Amino acid sequence: MSRGGGRGHTRVKTSRGRTPQSNRWLERQLNDPYVKRAKAEGYRSRAVYKLLELDEKFDFLKGSKRVIDLGIAPGGWTQLVRKRLPKAAVVGIDLLPVDPIDGATILQMDFMDDAAPDRLVEELGGAPDLILSDMAANTVGHAQTDALRTLGLVEAALDFAIRTLAPGGDFVAKVFAGGADSALVAEMKRNFTTVKHAKPPASRKGSVEWFVVAQGFKGRTEEVPE
Ligand SMILES: C[S@@+](CC[C@H](N)C(=O)[O-])C[C@H]1O[C@@H](n2cnc3c(N)ncnc32)[C@H](O)[C@@H]1O
Repeated sequence: MSRGGGRGHTRVKTSRGRTPQSNRWLERQLNDPYVKRAKAEGYRSRAVYKLLELDEKFDFLKGSKRVIDLGIAPGGWTQLVRKRLPKAAVVGIDLLPVDPIDGATILQMDFMDDAAPDRLVEELGGAPDLILSDMAANTVGHAQTDALRTLGLVEAALDFAIRTLAPGGDFVAKVFAGGADSALVAEMKRNFTTVKHAKPPASRKGSVEWFVVAQGFKGRTEEVPE
């Protein structure tokens, strides 16, 4: 590693065993102000600042008592939720193992598993009033395929939100620009008072990631078929 390319900019020398792609990733990580800030403030991910900035704009954390974090690993979002809402119950789920977070219950399982929705609500001890989803499918590098795979996760998360949220609850989810399709937005608008898209400053400009924030769940007016 060497200093160069401007004040404070860390350059990463190509070394054997590191591909140019992983080199670029490492260089970007080392020079990213959000990565530095996360380290300094004790957060496990730079992703935490996306949630923080979204909350600054939409104010969905305040007053939440039961929170679900879909795609919790490594845990930055839940760390922030616990800090802001020390009394709230928080349950997270991820395919990957996550180091314990004080006051949060973490399930290591696939959210797409049929048993996952019931397990989440059971662990939470009641209806959630805030459902967060930062889930993204592993990218394969083909933009359309990646968008579709993440769309599948968002659809499942929205379905879960509509089935379980307490009236007045909020749903915040990562979507891909090409992925927040009109049917999904229409479904959100049917079920929530306001639906907004946002790209927080912490979301890298080059990434196609966006977030959708649906607030004020209208409640289940009719039984959702099993
Ligand atoms: C961008 S990361 C989440 C970062 C997190 N918000 C934070 O602040 O630390 C997305 C996560 O979604 C998880 N994920 C993707 N598909 C999933 C699925 N089907 N079930 C559970 N987790 C999933 C991935 O394993 C990954 O850890």
